[in-house]
Amino acid sequence: MLATTIAALVALAAPAMAQLYPNQTGSFHLKLTNTNSDLDNTYLYACHSGAAIEQLCLGNKTLRDDGFGTFYLNYSANSLVNDKPAGALVWNLPFTSAGGAIQTASSPLSFSYNPTSNVAILILSPSSTDTSDVVPAGFDDDEHLFAYSYVDESVFPPDTSSGPHLFYHFALCQTYFGGYRYTALAWVTAGQPLNPSCHAVTVTREFPILAQ
Ligand SMILES: *[C@@H]1O[C@H](CO)[C@@H](O)[C@H](O)[C@H]1NC(C)=O
Ligand SMILES: *[C@@H]1O[C@H](CO)[C@@H](O)[C@H](O)[C@H]1NC(C)=O
Ligand SMILES: *[C@@H]1O[C@H](CO)[C@@H](O)[C@H](O)[C@H]1NC(C)=O
Repeated sequence: MLATTIAALVALAAPAMAQLYPNQTGSFHLKLTNTNSDLDNTYLYACHSGAAIEQLCLGNKTLRDDGFGTFYLNYSANSLVNDKPAGALVWNLPFTSAGGAIQTASSPLSFSYNPTSNVAILILSPSSTDTSDVVPAGFDDDEHLFAYSYVDESVFPPDTSSGPHLFYHFALCQTYFGGYRYTALAWVTAGQPLNPSCHAVTVTREFPILAQ
C-alpha cells in the first residue's frame, strides 16, 4: 500500500523533475557548525514524519552509515548561483516496489508553511521540484547551506537585477508535524521565530572522506 502510494507519487513527479534539475552532485552529509559545543559537529538525518515524508532531525556526532544521513544536490546548467551548482537538496527515500525490489524515490527538501507561524517545517518528500515550496538551495564557499532568491522585495519596485540574494534562516527547533515531535531543522521566514525553542544554526556540507 505504502509502496504503491509512493510509486504513484514518483510517476506523477518524474516528468517535471527530469526537466528542472536533471544533474546531481553528491553524496554528502549535513552537520551543524558554528554553534554551542553540545550541538557543534552534530549530523542531521532523515527521520520519518508521515507517509513518504521525513524531516531533518538532530542526530549524533558520529554518522549513521545507513543512508539516512546521505544527501545530494540537484541542479541544471541554468541554476548556478555564483558559478556553483544550486537547485534542490535531495534525499533518496528507500521503498520496496510491488515486485519486492528495494528502490529509492528522489525527495527534494521543501518548505511546509503554517500560515499562523513564521517557522516553516522543512520536509523531504518525493515530488516535483517544479513547485514554489521546494527550497532553492545551494552551498557557499564555506560549504554553508543557503536558500536563494533573485528578487529583492525590500525595495520598491522589487529589484530583479542585483541577485542572487542568499539567506541563512535555518534554525533547530522542537517541531510538531504530522503527529511527530522532533528536534529538527526548520526555516524562519522573517523576524524572531514564534516557536521559543528555535535557535539559529549553520548547516554545513561535508563530503565523505574516501578510504585510502
Ligand atoms: C535528481 O537527479 C537525479 C539524477 O539525475 C534524478 O534521478 C532525480 O530524479 C532528480 N531528483 C529531482 C527531485 O529532481
Ligand atoms: C545516536 O547514538 C545512539 C547511541 O549510540 C543510538 O542509539 C542512535 O541510534 C544514534 N542516532 C543516530 C541518528 O545516529
Ligand atoms: C548535466 O548532465 C548531462 C548528462 O549527463 C551532461 O551532458 C551535462 O553536461 C550536465 N550539465 C551540467 C551543467 O553539469
